Amino acid sequence: MRARTSVAGTTESVQALTAPLTANAVFLISTVTTDGLDQVREVLIGLADTVKALTFRFPETALTCTVGIGSRIWDDLTGVAAPQQLREFTPVTGAAHAAPATPGDLLFHIRAERADVCFELERQLLETLGASVVVQDETVGFRSFDRRDLLGFVDGTANPVGPDAEASVLVGDEDPTHSGGTYVVTQKYIHPLGAWRDLTTEAQETIIGRTKLEGVELDDADEGQKSHKTLTTITDAGGTEHDIQRDNMPFGSPGRGEFGTYFLGYTRNLWVIQQMLERMFVGDPPGLHDRLLDFSTAITGSVFFAPRGDVLASLRSPE
Ligand code: HEM
Repeated sequence: MRARTSVAGTTESVQALTAPLTANAVFLISTVTTDGLDQVREVLIGLADTVKALTFRFPETALTCTVGIGSRIWDDLTGVAAPQQLREFTPVTGAAHAAPATPGDLLFHIRAERADVCFELERQLLETLGASVVVQDETVGFRSFDRRDLLGFVDGTANPVGPDAEASVLVGDEDPTHSGGTYVVTQKYIHPLGAWRDLTTEAQETIIGRTKLEGVELDDADEGQKSHKTLTTITDAGGTEHDIQRDNMPFGSPGRGEFGTYFLGYTRNLWVIQQMLERMFVGDPPGLHDRLLDFSTAITGSVFFAPRGDVLASLRSPE
């Protein structure tokens, strides 16, 4: 498998924003220390070369690395005007469940068909970053069977593909400095797997809104409780549906009783994911929250902007 071929025709391993899901991924979130900005900038400018050295050795692994930069450090790190919609993660509190905001200045989303290649890139990055960052969360994700989450459902089916993916994910002329970049929202969820497995398959399917075996869409009841699929379908006043690209991955450790889903959404418009979260946590109508949350606890929440590769390569210290 190869890394994504961009619209311009060049193969990109860095900021491969609409790259397909791989068998392995690392989600690494860190904060940047007060003295660390110069070192971080150096590492980001050199990232394409770091990744290229590994891609040359393991071309078949589809290694890509996407960096997201948080709003707290954007101005001091980049010397480029901030993306128009960039802000901190806005927590959402519903009657029963909450989506918290947690610290994060820098996201490395490393994807490859081999876990050892992801591991090696992460190791090299952290070695060169040294004391300039403090790791806040490191999650190692893996593909489970035919792209199922640990709840047993195929996850990612509704992701847009081809030109639709680029239109949903990449910023356009509305923010010319950042066209071709994307906003990224991450959340780590933990599942009480035993309680979920105690449900009947029919009850699980009603919560998700798709059949478990084949991932076929199911209709909701005419009124009352909506499924996860319906609560996360966002249609604007003009009737246009707004998709996002999810790169969710299972993670966990049976030995420690840990079972989770790492949610990572790429979007052209942050409000789309915010609206999904509000519909999930507050409910539509309010009070009828997404029943998936009765079996999924959000423990992190961060927002980043992943600039185009050429913007990343030309970062400079602010005047
Ligand atoms: C515990 C975490 C989560 C799990 C296990 C999960 C699982 C799933 C599954 C199994 C589907 C149906 C198959 C598919 O279309 O991919 C789905 C659909 C979807 N999910 Fe989630 N999800 C989670 C969290 C989220 C969050 C936090 C968001 C957004 C903020 C989200 C947005 C969506 C969207 C947009 C769809 C497609 C809806 C459509 O059919 O148009 N999910 N999810």
